[in-house]
Amino acid sequence: MSWMHRHLLDVDALSRPEMELLLDQAVHMEDLLDRPIKKVPALRGKLVVNLFFEPSTRTRVSFELAEKFLGADVVNWAASGSSTSKGETLRDTAWTLEAMGADAVVVRHGMPGVPWYLREKLRKASVFNAGDGAHAHPTQALLDVYTVWKHCNRSLDGLRVAIVGDVLHSRVVRSDVQAFRLLGAEVVLAGPRTLMPLETDALGAVYEPDPVKAVEGADVVYLLRIQKERALEGLYPTDDEYHRRWGADEELMARAKKGAFVMHPGPINRGVEIASAVADGPNSLILDQVRSGVAVRMALLYLCMGGMEA
Ligand code: CP
Repeated sequence: MSWMHRHLLDVDALSRPEMELLLDQAVHMEDLLDRPIKKVPALRGKLVVNLFFEPSTRTRVSFELAEKFLGADVVNWAASGSSTSKGETLRDTAWTLEAMGADAVVVRHGMPGVPWYLREKLRKASVFNAGDGAHAHPTQALLDVYTVWKHCNRSLDGLRVAIVGDVLHSRVVRSDVQAFRLLGAEVVLAGPRTLMPLETDALGAVYEPDPVKAVEGADVVYLLRIQKERALEGLYPTDDEYHRRWGADEELMARAKKGAFVMHPGPINRGVEIASAVADGPNSLILDQVRSGVAVRMALLYLCMGGMEA
């Protein structure tokens, strides 16, 4: 099995064997993270620009760590303080960075489709989607399946994954449903009807209006963040009411399979979509997801860029 991709825009570009190759590679990368000296020279001489038009902690920092651990030169570009505020277009910004030698661009943008646009416009740089609007977040999906895969003897076949929360505004859910299903898991979506797209079938998962039924027998309960920055006024009553009906507390988790894993992409709204007792409990994989993010992004960069000619 050889790796044919220079970019990653969404997980639907990957076949199951390709995804499994990446997960195997991430295991080697995670081993490196336990070493006192984590650096390898796989991307020495390559320049990677992290182009973030929206805020990020986990994705931006873990891409930066992954790039540095692989020996790349790294530039962190942020919209604030850049010439974007003087009216420079996205295309001119990208061409400018490529003219300075960027071999890869990691992009997060509020507008769906921006990574595809950059792939068209850039001449040679690889493009990695770090989240585009409410559309896709492929590296989050890869780190999510990797985290479960590690904990389930490297197989997701037949697992039941309940994803609960603000599906409507979530880019994570779209990529996660694809990735979990590609590896053989069944996905059920739950959340308030007002925070659910009309076309849940098109996402490839069934909608279960009752959160208790959605979670019943689940191997994984994956909570989605209520995206308060997206003007949700009126779409759910209050944080307290949301928590009582849709939030993961110990009572809701008792309906899942014994020992079911708890996941969340972060950042967490404690006491809204998840109770602290669950987020910090023994079955929580939330911090493991964060650690997996570094290993999976190292694996991705290595596969897409490591074998390329300078
Ligand atoms: N999960 C995720 O994308 O988190 P950040 O917004 O902190 O990158």
